[in-house]
Amino acid sequence: MGSLHSAFDPEKFRTDGHRIVDMLANILATGMSGDGAVLPWVAPAEQLEYWANRMDEPREAAVDFLTSFAERSIKIHHTRYMGHQVCAPLPVAALAGLAAELLNNGMAVYEMGPAATALERWIVRRTCGAFGFVEGDGFLTSGGKLATVTALLAARGRVLGEGALQEGTDAEYAIIASEEAHYCTARAVQVMGWGRDGLISVPVDGRFKMRSDLLPAAMEQAARRGRRVVAVVASACSASTGSYDDIQAIADFCSANRLWLHVDGAHGGAVAFCPELRERICGIERADSAILDFHKLLLTPALATAVLFRDPSSSWAAFHQRAQYLFAENDPEPWRDGGRRTMECTKLSMSVKIAAIWRTQGEELIAEHLRSVHALAREFAAMLRARAAFEVAIEPESNIVCFRFRRAGMAEDALDDLNRALRVRVIESGMFYIVQTALNGRVWLRTALMNSLSTVADLEQLLDTLECFAGAGAWVGSFIRMRTAAAPAGVAGGGKKETGFEWRSPFFQ
Ligand SMILES: Cc1ncc(COP(=O)(O)O)c(C=O)c1O
Repeated sequence: MGSLHSAFDPEKFRTDGHRIVDMLANILATGMSGDGAVLPWVAPAEQLEYWANRMDEPREAAVDFLTSFAERSIKIHHTRYMGHQVCAPLPVAALAGLAAELLNNGMAVYEMGPAATALERWIVRRTCGAFGFVEGDGFLTSGGKLATVTALLAARGRVLGEGALQEGTDAEYAIIASEEAHYCTARAVQVMGWGRDGLISVPVDGRFKMRSDLLPAAMEQAARRGRRVVAVVASACSASTGSYDDIQAIADFCSANRLWLHVDGAHGGAVAFCPELRERICGIERADSAILDFHKLLLTPALATAVLFRDPSSSWAAFHQRAQYLFAENDPEPWRDGGRRTMECTKLSMSVKIAAIWRTQGEELIAEHLRSVHALAREFAAMLRARAAFEVAIEPESNIVCFRFRRAGMAEDALDDLNRALRVRVIESGMFYIVQTALNGRVWLRTALMNSLSTVADLEQLLDTLECFAGAGAWVGSFIRMRTAAAPAGVAGGGKKETGFEWRSPFFQ
C-alpha cells in the first residue's frame, strides 16, 4: 500500500481508534476517581522545549503521541478541577466530536453539512423556546466572544440602518454594560471601532449586579461623550462572581429608551434548561439578542455557542442587511446556508456534539447536572463561612464561588500577595486547579464548580490544603494522597508509585 493509502487506511483507523479510546477512558477513570494530578505543572519554556524535541524525534504511533499529549494536558474531568468555565464534556459528546472531525462537514452551505445544518436548526429552536423567543431565530458560532461580536454587530446594523452600513459612517456610538461584564463586550466595541469611550460602564451593587438605577446616568455620560447608545448588555451571569443582572429592570429601561437589549448568557443562560434555576434569567424573553455557550455549563466540548434573536429578521442584521433578509424571505428555507449569517465560512459541525447529548441522555440529565453544580457551590460557600481563615465574597447564585484567605492583623495588600501565592502553589502542586479574580481592587480566589462529580470532600481538601500552604492549619496531608503513577517522565511526581505531599511546614515561614 502506498504511504498515502496507508495513512488513510480504515483498518488502521479502527485499530488506532480503539487504542486511543482505551487510553482516554483510562484518563477519564483516573480523573473521575480523583486520582493523579489535575494539572501536571511544567513551566512554559520547559514544555515548549519538550515538544520541540519530541517533534524532531523519529515518527511514532498515534497512540504514543496522544498519550503524551493527554498526560501533559490539564484534566478537565478531574474532580479537583475547579478553574475556568470549561466543562468536563460528556464522553458521548466527545465521540460525536470525533465523528464531526472525521466527517469534517464545512457547514457554510447546506450541502456541506446537511445533517449538521438540520440539527443546528433543531438546537436553535429548542434554545429559543427555552429563552422564550417565541418567533426567534439564530445560529451556532465559535465561542462566546465571537457570538457577542455577532450580536452587537446586529444591534449596530439595526440602529445604523442599511445605508450607513453600506456607505460607512463617522458617527460615534456606544454600548452600555456593567463594570463586571465580560471583556468580550469591550472587545466587540473595539472591533466596531468605537474606542475606549465607546463602552459606558455602569457600577455594580454589593452583589456585583448592574446598578440598573444608574442607567439614566450612563445615557447622560454617553451624551456628554457625543455618542448615541446602541445597546445595553446584561450579564447572566457575570464571569467573575456568577452574579445575574436584573434583566427585567434593564429590559424596562431599554424599552422606555428604545435600546437594543443583549443578554450575555454565555455561562448562566444554561439555567434555561433547569426549571428550578430558570428564574435567574427571568426577563430574557424581552431581550433582542442573547448568547449561550454549550461548552460551559452544558457538557459539550468547546466550542459550541448559540447566538439567538427574538426577532428572526435580526439574525440577518450582523453581516447582511434587510435586502438580504427580504431575499431570504422568498426562500422557503432561508436557514439552510449557514454561512450567510455567521462570521465563519467553514464552520465546525458543532451541532452534532450538542444533539448527541439530547439524543442519548435527554434534557433531564442536563437539569440534574445544573442542579448538582449549583448545590455544590452553595455548600462550598457554607463551608467557607464555617472556617475562620476564609471570607466568601457573596452567596453564590451560580456555580462560581469567590473567596479569600484571611489572616488576622495582615494588611490587605499583603493578603493579596498571600492569596496570589497560594493559588500558584496550589496549581503547581497539581492537586487542584482554581483561578483568581479581582473584586473591588482585591485578589480573590475563584472556583467554578464545573464537574458534577466533584464532592464536598474535594472542597474540604482544597480548604485544608490552602490552610496548610498558608501555615494556618494543622497539616492534614496524610489523607490527601495523590497517586502519581500515571505522571509522565519529567513532570512533577513522575515515576513514583505513590507519594504524600511534602509541604509539611507552613508555607510562609
Ligand atoms: C459571561 C461570559 N461571556 C462571554 C465569555 C466568552 O466566551 P468564550 O470563552 O466562549 O469565547 C465568557 C467566558 O468565560 C463568559 O464567562
